[in-house]
Amino acid sequence: MAELARIYGSFAHKHIVSFDQFDPESLAILFKATEQMRDLAKKAMSLRILEGNIVALLFYEPSSRTMASFDAATKQLGGDTVLIQNPQQFSSVAKGESFTDSVRTFNAYCDAIVLRHPEVGSALRAVQAVERVRATRYAVVINAGDGIGEHPTQALLDLFTIQEHTGTLKGLNGLVAGDLRNGRTVHSLLRGLALYHSNTVYLLSPEQLRLSEDDFQRFLDRGLKLVPISDFTEIPRNLDFWYWTRVQKERFSSTEEYERVNNNFVVTQEILKTYGGERMILMHPLPRVGEIAEEIDNDPRAVYLEQQVRNGMYVRTALLGLVLERIKP
Ligand code: NCD
Repeated sequence: MAELARIYGSFAHKHIVSFDQFDPESLAILFKATEQMRDLAKKAMSLRILEGNIVALLFYEPSSRTMASFDAATKQLGGDTVLIQNPQQFSSVAKGESFTDSVRTFNAYCDAIVLRHPEVGSALRAVQAVERVRATRYAVVINAGDGIGEHPTQALLDLFTIQEHTGTLKGLNGLVAGDLRNGRTVHSLLRGLALYHSNTVYLLSPEQLRLSEDDFQRFLDRGLKLVPISDFTEIPRNLDFWYWTRVQKERFSSTEEYERVNNNFVVTQEILKTYGGERMILMHPLPRVGEIAEEIDNDPRAVYLEQQVRNGMYVRTALLGLVLERIKP
C-alpha cells in the first residue's frame, strides 16, 4: 500500500485500488455525490461534467455490470470511453506486449483507466506504470477487480445500497455467504464494514472457501466482529442484510474440485422464509449461477437485480466526477 494515497476527503486525481484507501468521511462525501447523481438520473437530467474526458475500460477478464456501468456512467456525464475487452486476444498483448507497455499506452490517450485483470496486485502495478511516465499528468487507475484481491467499486455500491436501506453503516448485523476465500467483492466489502463501529458479520461457506487466515485476522484486528457458521440453522433472524456470492469457478484448478463445493448453500423461498428476517435485504454482486433461486427475484427484499445494479452506475458516476475533479466535494 506504500504508493497508494489514502482519500482523507480528497478524491482529486487519486487512484482507486484498495478499500484500504477509504475512511468514513470520504465515503460520506462520495455517497452524498452518489445521491445527487441518483436524483438527477431519476429526473432524467444529465450532467455533462466529463465532456472532453476519455475513460479506458481495459478488461482482461469477463464483465457485464462493472464494464457496462463504467461505460454508461462516463457517457451519462458527457465523456467518452475506449473499450479494450480481452486484450490477450484483440490487442498488441497477443503479439507479446507487456502489461506495463499496454497500460502506459492507454495512459497516453485517457484520463482514467478502469482495469480488470486476473492477477492480485495488477492494479497497483498499473499505478506504478502510469506514474513512471514522464508526462506531467497521468491517468487515474481504477481497480475493477484484480484476481481474488479486491473490487473496491463493487464494495462502494454495496455499502451505498446497505446505507439506503438501514440509514447507517454502524452497528449492523449481516451475513456474507459463498466463496469467501476467492471472492474479491467480499474482500473489499469486509474492509468497508470494518471502517465503522460495532459491525458483526456472520460468514457462511464450505470449509474450503472460508476467508484466508490472514484476511480473517486482518478484519478482527480492525474491530469487525466475525462469526463463522457452517449451516443455515445458525443464521440469526434479525440480520440487516444477506450478501450472497458465487463460487469463483475460474479460480479452481479442476472441475471436480469446483463441483464439490459449488452450490452447497442455495437461497430458496423456503430458506428465506425460515431464516430470513422481514427487514433484511438480500444482495448479490452478480453474476449468480444457481446460488439464489429465481423464485425469489420478486421478493421485495431481493435488491440484486435492480437497486444494486442501478446503484453501481450512480456510485461510479460520482466516483469518476470526484477523481477527475469535475465534482467539488
Ligand atoms: C464480481 C466480480 O467480478 O468479482 N462481479 C461483479 O463485478 N459484479 C462477482 C463475481 O464474478 O462473482
